[in-house]
Amino acid sequence: MKRSIIITGGAGFIGSHVVRLMVNKYPEYRIINVDLLTYAGNLNNLRDIENKPNYRFVRANICDTNTILSLMKEERVDGIIHLAAESHVDRSIKDPVGFATTNILGTISLLQAAKLYWESLPEKYEGKRFYHISTDEVYGALEMTNPEGIESPFTTKASSAHHHAYGTKFFTEDLKYNPHSPYSAAKASSDHFVRAFHDTYGMPTIVTNCSNNYGPYQFPEKLIPLFINNIRHRKPLPVYGKGGNVRDWLYVEDHARAIDLIFHQGKTAETYNIGGFNEWKNIDIIHLLIETVDRKLGRKKGEDESLITYVTDRAGHDLRYAIDSRKLQRELGWEPSLQFEEGIERTVDWYLNNQAWMDNITSGEYEKYYEDMYGNR
Ligand code: NAD
Ligand code: TYD
Repeated sequence: MKRSIIITGGAGFIGSHVVRLMVNKYPEYRIINVDLLTYAGNLNNLRDIENKPNYRFVRANICDTNTILSLMKEERVDGIIHLAAESHVDRSIKDPVGFATTNILGTISLLQAAKLYWESLPEKYEGKRFYHISTDEVYGALEMTNPEGIESPFTTKASSAHHHAYGTKFFTEDLKYNPHSPYSAAKASSDHFVRAFHDTYGMPTIVTNCSNNYGPYQFPEKLIPLFINNIRHRKPLPVYGKGGNVRDWLYVEDHARAIDLIFHQGKTAETYNIGGFNEWKNIDIIHLLIETVDRKLGRKKGEDESLITYVTDRAGHDLRYAIDSRKLQRELGWEPSLQFEEGIERTVDWYLNNQAWMDNITSGEYEKYYEDMYGNR
């Protein structure tokens, strides 16, 4: 079947992996990447597919309902995979209004454009899909009842060799939303609007909530690429608080594969949580990154441990995230492909081998932002 799909935020980190996967896997589809190219959008993330005949890039703001509506009509769009957002918690603490504008109003604007176009067609919503990509952060923070880690009751192929869980509770799809940061509050609100468009107008929507992603093309304000780059250049590693917060990490290509599967086979109006049962304390990941980068650069073991610099904790810093993805595994047969230790090897290799990609970003405006955040170090 031919499809015409808008992917919003396709020039960002996860979006670029989704665009690449869909363009390569479905030559018969039309894939339209709609991205405003904010600081986080980067067309260098898509050089390998930008000339494919089934791909089109359109620079546009999702808040601009009329532009999106015209594009949907022109391209006869029957599916939207919505990733465009402001995505960094620290920025949201500085600019909550900007986050509400993009993440909440931008999502409503996109929903409204889809509603106007699809309702104007004779078949209306039949064969259509609005797929909203959200985050596990909407559920809030889980307690850390086992600070030393216990053996995880559930594992996947992505689970680290240590198989730790730091508490007995996990985020399940039926959990009440309880966001704490302006970022997660804005994402939570956008999720509610997506469900409201299903319940009110009958739009065929779907929402997924994924854990922290890592891998190539991630903007170096996020923990893993920032720290790989800083270790390489022997810059301080700003660890928030004591480094004891727990995140659940998934390789970005496994998230993209889940998105492809759910877009095609997920049940309308359902929610699926995506994650690999792979919990890590920040400080343990940081030691692993130092060990891996030093080994690959031929430095002495432990040489860069001294870069660790404990800094003031993030305001409202969520203690623990841990996704229960058993519904997605059970109902759609999804299974991640890559164990965390292998994913980190690949990721470190990628950043070390793509220094030009990194340099292009870390010069100019971002450098200034980073200096404002942490001082000129
Ligand atoms: P990112 O910040 O790397 O990319 C966001 C993209 O959206 C950029 O290309 C940017 O230019 C674009 N964009 C921003 N505002 C826009 C606007 N008004 N109109 C059009 N385009 C706009 O983000 P990411 O990490 O790739 O995250 C993508 C999505 O996945 C987000 O919705 C995020 O909430 C969600 N998510 C991310 C993670 C993660 O670990 N990164 C985990 C779960 C869910
Ligand atoms: P981040 O990559 O910003 O993702 P999120 O906040 O969405 O989980 O941060 C991951 C964890 O690393 C989080 O607990 C905050 C912490 N962190 C630091 O300790 N130092 C840093 O410089 C950054 C960017 C994050």
